[in-house]
Amino acid sequence: MRKNTSKFLLKGGKPLHGSIKISGAKNAASKLIIASMLTDQPVHITNCPIGIGEIITTREICEALGTKFKKYSNNEVIVQTKNVHSNSFSASLGIINRIGVLTVGPLLQRVGEAKIPRPGGDKIGARPIDFHLSALEQLGAKVKEYKDFYLLKATKLKGANISLPFPSVGATENILITACLAEGKTFIHNAAIEPEIMDIIRMLQKMGAIIDVMTDRTIVITGVEKLKGANHNVLPDRLEAASFACAAIASKGDITIYDASQSDMISFLNSIRLIGADYEILDNGIRFFYKGKLKPICIETDVHPGFMTDWQPPFVILLTQVDGVSMIHETVYENRFGYVSELKKMGADIELYDTCLGSLPCRYKNTNYLHSAVIKGPTTLKPANIHVPDIRAGFSYLVAAILAKGETMVDGIHYIDRGYENIEGKLSKLGVDIKRV
Ligand code: UD1
Repeated sequence: MRKNTSKFLLKGGKPLHGSIKISGAKNAASKLIIASMLTDQPVHITNCPIGIGEIITTREICEALGTKFKKYSNNEVIVQTKNVHSNSFSASLGIINRIGVLTVGPLLQRVGEAKIPRPGGDKIGARPIDFHLSALEQLGAKVKEYKDFYLLKATKLKGANISLPFPSVGATENILITACLAEGKTFIHNAAIEPEIMDIIRMLQKMGAIIDVMTDRTIVITGVEKLKGANHNVLPDRLEAASFACAAIASKGDITIYDASQSDMISFLNSIRLIGADYEILDNGIRFFYKGKLKPICIETDVHPGFMTDWQPPFVILLTQVDGVSMIHETVYENRFGYVSELKKMGADIELYDTCLGSLPCRYKNTNYLHSAVIKGPTTLKPANIHVPDIRAGFSYLVAAILAKGETMVDGIHYIDRGYENIEGKLSKLGVDIKRV
């Protein structure tokens, strides 16, 4: 795995003020680049966060398969895959994240075979790819599993009636990308409908695909024979926007986040108001501000349009500053509170439970997974040396460090670099004293 051995040294204790513009969404941009491989024509992607690790890895994976990057600068990418010259990429690229699994569709469509190393990703749960593999089989692929890789073959892909056991983002994307060029209609029942998926649908539609999103979480793809090139602007990163918003409010600050999109953040915005902070919707962004004592809240993470699981870690830090007892029930990943032990070192009062502390039991009821958290506040966080275990937790450690008066050293920042573009630049602009050492 590509590791960055540097650390962040951050002097906290000051409220955030000022404005920043957020980047294009990591969780859409990487998939858009892969979807471009469905055509031999150029695809032009703007607002692409080209500096983050996830996009760099996507580029390396696509290049290994035959894609040429004709432009990769100024947040613009022009990609073209005239020919696919390999059916595989190295295991060292596969282990970095889960993006490689999405190359199966283009590879099957273009060369009839895909050899995919076992994927890696954050340590937030088992994160299997069984939904992906089962769907690909239903579309006509033959799947063989080996110790270190999966081998998939297909002479012809045909539309299928696929029901996902859970609205998985990755599996929905994999089916979408694969089914556009399959013969006939594909139904994805219980599909994920995250804004990033809608962005992929928008680009596929520009490329010539026929995709309908029904009101009941069913996506219907009518296969076409060929796709063409397109221009597409990546939607803004609602995870990045929420992370900065939490930092601003937790530090009792007031910031404007340009490009933050209200429609992609409805449940987050409601939670901000419910805890007694506020926001103002502007023409080109959202202003978030502290306006007095914060109140506790109970939150359940969920698939879109619910409260996104990736918002959970920075929101937990915000809840350490709330006056009272808050609760978060994580229902998307079984193991997404791994980052809490480091926060306790900084003085956070957070207890984890294996019970479903929400209104409804989730898939992890009657398991030993610590998937509910009780957060007591307000607590004064103190500086410490902390180690980042995954990408979203990474930003939340930075938020904790912003609150702690004194010097906090944050280690393991390759996880932060994987998902956040120019993080030091943006935080410095908001008044944070942060250095890479
Ligand atoms: C994507 C996002 C991630 C976000 C997540 C949920 C990217 C690069 N990552 O991850 O930031 O937290 O959506 O919004 O876009 N599952 C299975 N079998 C499968 C697939 C998924 O059991 O084959 C389970 C997972 O273990 C998890 C749940 O389904 O418990 C949701 O996972 P999924 O939506 O697929 O997440 P990703 O696409 O990996």
